[in-house]
Amino acid sequence: SRSDAAKIGIVTVSDRASRGEYEDLGGPAIASYLNEVLTSAFEEIACVIPDDRRLIEETLRELCVKEGCCLVVTTGGTGPSARDVTPEATEAVCDRLMPGFGELMRKVSLEKVPTAILSRQTAGLLGNSLIVNLPGKPKAIAECLDAVFPAIPYCIDLMD
Ligand code: MTE
Repeated sequence: SRSDAAKIGIVTVSDRASRGEYEDLGGPAIASYLNEVLTSAFEEIACVIPDDRRLIEETLRELCVKEGCCLVVTTGGTGPSARDVTPEATEAVCDRLMPGFGELMRKVSLEKVPTAILSRQTAGLLGNSLIVNLPGKPKAIAECLDAVFPAIPYCIDLMD
């Protein structure tokens, strides 16, 4: 079981945010959501990287395996454009997929915007870590986390 403060990885995947062409709003939106809902102390490790499949895979492995994050959330790169490869990188590093996360997030998002059908978000397990893709839009982040968050501590408990 885990004794130190839980580590949580927050990965913003965006070519433009990583080049500083716009401010990363997604990462901070996730951090403030977690600060609101989590009752015990956690250490967050946040990074902003471009839409590069190899780099996303390396970052996910580093956060899960080397840093020992129990949870890694990504934002961005889940749409249908050729540069959107976050789901592929997630599937590549995970031992097992957890398709229910993407299914539920698309369901709740579709009730708000028809374009949610374009989201390819997924989730999966890498060792003792849970990786969850969130959409890139900051507003969509809270909507999706509201839906799936209750399952996250439960899933992490079951993996320990
Ligand atoms: N989900 C919600 N709740 N709200 C949205 O506006 N946008 C959709 C989808 N999911 C959206 C959403 C659109 S238009 C796309 S292309 C993908 O998320 C974008 O995912 P990305 O930003 O991770 O590439």
